[in-house]
Amino acid sequence: MLKGYPFYKYIVNYHPFGNGHINKTYLVETTIGKYILQQINTNVFKKTKYVMQNIDLVTKYIKMRGGKTLEIVKDNHGKKLKKVENCYWRCYKYIEGGETLEISTDDKIFYEIGKAIGDFSFLLTDFPIKKLKITIPNFHNTLKRYEKLFSLINNNAKVNNCFLEIRFVSEHKLLIKEYMNKLNSVPIRVTHNDTKLNNIMINSNTCQAICLIDLDTVMPGSLLFDYGDAIRVAINKAKEDEKDLRKVKINKKIFYSLSKGFLEKTYPILTDIEKELLFESAKIITLECGIRFLTDYLENDVYFKTDYPNHNLIRAKNQFKLVKEMEREENIYQNIIKSILKQLENKGV
Ligand SMILES: Nc1ncnc2c1ncn2[C@@H]1O[C@H](COP(=O)(O)OP(=O)(O)O)[C@@H](O)[C@H]1O
Ligand SMILES: [Mg+2]
Repeated sequence: MLKGYPFYKYIVNYHPFGNGHINKTYLVETTIGKYILQQINTNVFKKTKYVMQNIDLVTKYIKMRGGKTLEIVKDNHGKKLKKVENCYWRCYKYIEGGETLEISTDDKIFYEIGKAIGDFSFLLTDFPIKKLKITIPNFHNTLKRYEKLFSLINNNAKVNNCFLEIRFVSEHKLLIKEYMNKLNSVPIRVTHNDTKLNNIMINSNTCQAICLIDLDTVMPGSLLFDYGDAIRVAINKAKEDEKDLRKVKINKKIFYSLSKGFLEKTYPILTDIEKELLFESAKIITLECGIRFLTDYLENDVYFKTDYPNHNLIRAKNQFKLVKEMEREENIYQNIIKSILKQLENKGV
C-alpha cells in the first residue's frame, strides 16, 4: 500500500495514530517529512470518491484564500484516492506543531475552537457551492430523524424503557418543524458537519487553533449546525454517556468563549436570520443527536458502537437532559449571544 507513494523509499517507520473513531489513521515518518495515511471507513462514507472530491475542492479554495487546511498527498499516479483490495486509502501531509485534544475545560481553548470553526465558514463564504456533492443525504434533516424514530415505536418492546424520552421528543415536534421551515431562509454554505474538539488542530506551543481537520463530512448545509454541534459537545459538563443526569449541566464560560470566537470570525458574513437562530440551532442539534441515539437503541445498536445493552439509551437521556438545561435558562444564553453581537456591532467589525 505505502509502495505507491513518492515518499516510500524514505520511510523510517509508521504506526497507528490518533483517537479517531471512524477512519483508520497511521502516522508515517520519513526522512523527508511526516504523513498521515488513512483508510477511509466506507461503511460510513459510501460515496468515497465524492468525499475526496469535496475535500480536494474545499482545501484548494481555503489555500487560495490564504487559510491553513489539510493538504492531500497524491500517489505516484497522481491519484488522491487509492483502492487496494476493496479498501480506500488517502494521504495528507502531517500538520507539524499541532495536536488535537480529546477533552478540555479551558475556555481559552474553546475561544480558539470557535474561531477555527468560524474561520472555516468565513474563508469559504464565496465558494461555488454547487460544485460540492451531498455525500450523506439528509444528514441534518431533524424532521426526517424524528419521523424515523416514530416509525419504530409500534410493536417494539423496548419502548417501555424509554416512554418518557419518546414523549419528550414528541413535545418538540412543532419546534423542529418550525425550525426546519426557518432554515429555508438561511444561506447554504460549505459546512464541516463534525466540529468536535478532536477535529481541530491546536498549536502545541501557543494553544492557538491551526485549522479544522477531518473533512470527510464537508457538504452544503447551514453554518448553524457547525456552531450548534460544537456548542452541544463543548458546553456539557458531563461525558456524553454519563449515567448520573444531575451532572449534565452547562458550562456558561465555555458557551460564551466558543460563541465569541465563532462570532468574531463570522460576524461580517452572518445574515440576520442566522444571528437569530444561533441558540435554537444548538438546541435542535442536541435534540437531533438524542433522537439518533434513541433510534439506534430501538434498532438494537446498528450505528453507534456500544459497550453495554442500554448504552445508547443512556446517551439519549443525556442529550435530552442537556436540551432541558438549555431550555431552563434559555434567556441567559440568548442574552450572551446578543451581547457578543452588540459588541461586534459597536466595534464595526
Ligand atoms: N494532517 C494531520 N496532521 C496531524 N494529525 C492528524 C492529521 N490528520 C489527522 N490527524 C490526527 O488523527 C486523528 C484522527 O484523524 P481524523 O481525520 O479526525 O479521523 P476520524 O474520522 O477517524 O476521526 C485526529 O484527531 C488527529 O489527531
Ligand atoms: Mg476525527
